[in-house]
Amino acid sequence: MPRISTAGLRRRAADGQKIVMVTCYDATFARLVERAGADAILVGDSLGMVIQGHDTTVPVTLDDVIYHCRAVARGCRKPHLVGDLPFGTYQGGPQDALRAATRLLKEGGVQAVKLEGGERVVDSVRLLTEAGIPVMGHLGLTPQSVHQFGGWKLQGRTATAAERLLADAHALQAAGAYSLVLEGIPAPLAAQVTAALDIPTIGIGAGPHCDGQVLVLYDLLGLDERFCPRFLKKYADLSAGVGEAVSAYADEVRTGRFPTAAHSHEE
Ligand code: KIV
Repeated sequence: MPRISTAGLRRRAADGQKIVMVTCYDATFARLVERAGADAILVGDSLGMVIQGHDTTVPVTLDDVIYHCRAVARGCRKPHLVGDLPFGTYQGGPQDALRAATRLLKEGGVQAVKLEGGERVVDSVRLLTEAGIPVMGHLGLTPQSVHQFGGWKLQGRTATAAERLLADAHALQAAGAYSLVLEGIPAPLAAQVTAALDIPTIGIGAGPHCDGQVLVLYDLLGLDERFCPRFLKKYADLSAGVGEAVSAYADEVRTGRFPTAAHSHEE
């Protein structure tokens, strides 16, 4: 079964079907996410926060992302697969971006790469596209710039910032980006960008008018009870579920109720 292609995602958007994307970092969750019918999986550098326990995505390395891409690629066959270019792998310019993206495709097994930024990355987007590497753009509250933003703050709030973001979106599309993540911006601005572009937009914290939505899998599963930003809807409470399961197991081990004969090999 061939993976959903960049054209497949564009077709969905053109037909008015919302694109469903989630992040994923391992083979087990990739299998479950595919079974649940997601169109696209992003192996995001959010892995630095939800897997590695960092406060930001900044420390994530290309080797880290490749490792998780390989696991996800082994776990699913159909979803469109995108790998994040981590901080420091493309800020040096197009040749750096090409080297890093080539490794993500060859070693990580993804179909496309995502990178953050507007005007300043268009030369890289153009070079990768010319080299046959599909690029997903990412504008708004781009996590790799969190130190420049001074925190996790909504972006594009002033007229000037909104104009800048719209110009960046056009520049990414013109350079060849096949889709665009819009993160942490006002819903009306996301609607304006979506209406202005031919390529699909995928929102997170950007309201309902994008062509698709993406969430961090661990967030939508409710694995961190401390993380409750306004944009997030938790579709499960696995933080409580995991806690209950592990404490029931601990209790049964301590009281000798597990394992029983049913869980033992007598010969
Ligand atoms: O790294 C990531 O998971 C992301 C998404 C939140 C868009 O960039």
